[in-house]
Amino acid sequence: MKFTLHQIHIFKEVAHRGSITRAAEALFMTQPAVSIQMKQLQKAVGIPLIDIIGRQLQLTDAGKEFLELCNSFTERLNHFDSRISQLKGGLRGKLTISAASTAKYFLPYHLGRFQKKYDQIDISLKVTNRNEVLKNLESYEYDLAILSQIPDDPSITAVPFLENPLVIAAHRSHPLRHKTLKSLNELSGEPFIFREKGSGTRMVMERLLKRAGIQPKIPMELGTNEAVKQAIMAGIGISLISELSLIPERASGRIATIDIEDYPVESSWYYLYNKNRLVSPVTQNFISFLSESNPENLLPQYSV
Ligand code: PGA
Repeated sequence: MKFTLHQIHIFKEVAHRGSITRAAEALFMTQPAVSIQMKQLQKAVGIPLIDIIGRQLQLTDAGKEFLELCNSFTERLNHFDSRISQLKGGLRGKLTISAASTAKYFLPYHLGRFQKKYDQIDISLKVTNRNEVLKNLESYEYDLAILSQIPDDPSITAVPFLENPLVIAAHRSHPLRHKTLKSLNELSGEPFIFREKGSGTRMVMERLLKRAGIQPKIPMELGTNEAVKQAIMAGIGISLISELSLIPERASGRIATIDIEDYPVESSWYYLYNKNRLVSPVTQNFISFLSESNPENLLPQYSV
């Protein structure tokens, strides 16, 4: 059966108006043009769909069945059309993000607000260290990456959206906790707890210690931020850590920080995407959401 969407449209109008003349008027067509289309449609279906009894137009049994088919077809087509518009407008679909581990302290709050606004978007968040995030970005597996130590790579776009203060965290009774040190050198005898290789936080800490000419004593190297915090609380050593991850421990006095006057550490959170990858409408929506958010709303909001 070969008929067109246009013919379906005309047939529905004829059935609805009960008249070829009235259907032609409604469709801004001439009456012969409607009649021709109806003839061709019935030829394609292979059986009469309308009958003229007296001066009255009626649907045949085949016509009634065909009308049902046309109605359900146009309903499905409209549904499909609205789903396509949602996909095009980024209101529905999938968003995959690979984020450096420290981002887990603020990102879920933000994603929660995003999902409330766009409840038809499925979000998948992979939390890992900087090196893995970059591998994920290169492999085109994820729409977006979030990290603070960005690579020097011209194929990647990186946009800052939130400050990431990094502080020296120490045991709550560390003797230097209430003092402001002139420079990092004053910590040269301290044991420094390191994150694993591949961590962005470790990169900054290594750079900082090198600049200060410190050869650190490393009592422990740990694979997560949480483990580093536990080691600090256990009195094993001090470490550089994102302030956003320390809010509960600082508020409850379980971890102290050491202030340093000459402290050249500037860090921000960036969202990154591969320049060669087409940014999907969903990703674009998330980027706008991130850029338009008040930075206050991006901070962790747990009670301590
Ligand atoms: P990481 O994250 O130390 O967990 O790798 C921080 C960053 O990307 O800088």
